[in-house]
Amino acid sequence: MQVFVTGASGHVGSAVIPELVAAGHAVAGLARSDTAAAAIADRGAEVIRGGLDDIDVLVDASRRADGVLHLAFKHDLMVTGDLAAAADADLIAVNAMLDAMAGSGKPFVGTSGTALIAMMGITGRPGAEDDTFGQGYRITTENAIIAAADRGVRSSVLRLPPSVHSDLDHHGFVPGLIGFARQNGFAGYLGDGANRWPAVHTRDAARLYRLALEAAPAGTRLHAVGDDGVAFRDIAAAIGRGLGIDTAAVEPDDAAERFGYLAAFVGVDNPTSSAITRELMDWKPEAPGLIEDIDAGHYFR
Ligand SMILES: NC(=O)c1ccc[n+]([C@@H]2O[C@H](COP(=O)([O-])OP(=O)(O)OC[C@H]3O[C@@H](n4cnc5c(N)ncnc54)[C@H](OP(=O)(O)O)[C@@H]3O)[C@@H](O)[C@H]2O)c1
Repeated sequence: MQVFVTGASGHVGSAVIPELVAAGHAVAGLARSDTAAAAIADRGAEVIRGGLDDIDVLVDASRRADGVLHLAFKHDLMVTGDLAAAADADLIAVNAMLDAMAGSGKPFVGTSGTALIAMMGITGRPGAEDDTFGQGYRITTENAIIAAADRGVRSSVLRLPPSVHSDLDHHGFVPGLIGFARQNGFAGYLGDGANRWPAVHTRDAARLYRLALEAAPAGTRLHAVGDDGVAFRDIAAAIGRGLGIDTAAVEPDDAAERFGYLAAFVGVDNPTSSAITRELMDWKPEAPGLIEDIDAGHYFR
């Protein structure tokens, strides 16, 4: 397949391109800078110059491709606290690509997050693929992608856990937490730290993107989840071990000061099942889990 990939220069994209190429697909990656273009070309893909706001570029590339993987997201806005603007831009870009693919039967694989399940109030049980919500940050986009199944797009959404981890992860949640731990002088957790984060290794997630592209039924939500839920205090302890510093509780009132842009995520209790995904896509995570991966040491070099 000729596959158009947005976010191809990013962390997850850095595993997705080799995964697709190894399976015999030809990849064209969106690049908004020379640096991104060089990274994409190095990974064996063609480069399409443009950004998420270049709707004409997105429409043209989506029409020409046999399938689209959408990974790009304006994380620069997320880091400065403007989640709404990042989500709005995402929705506009996604709708444009879906409109361009309507009636084609071609696959479109979008990206969402499992953390939304917890943020939408599901507590006391693992979130599941069939947990759906009316509207909200990234949820409106998720729903637009699923709805495109009724417009002749073989659309699916991968919900990624807050920690997509590996040696390819240089600015995700784990490096962010390590940065705040260095700054604070201790590896922090919120309250008693019993809240759980699901996690997935980048290469396992990349394989699921490929499987979704190739075979996900239209209108499918998938969970790229390896670890169902790791207690946050265990994540903090692994970071503390890696940095050789203590682990300590942070009071909720101090979360913003200690965790910056990650404050909204550190206390989230987000146990998440991927049972439906594993069964439907015949996908089984194979790479190390989150704690084993942090303990491997690459995050601290
Ligand atoms: N990693 C995680 O733990 C995690 C968890 C939940 C959800 N997700 C979601 O998974 C997707 C991939 O994440 P990631 O970890 O690979 O993120 P990442 O490493 O930050 O990569 C983001 C990608 O989006 C591109 N991008 C950002 N703004 C853009 C713009 N205005 N125009 C065009 N491209 C733009 C970046 O291009 P440049 O190279 O030019 O910056 C980069 O290729 C995102 O939707 C993310 O929100 C990730």
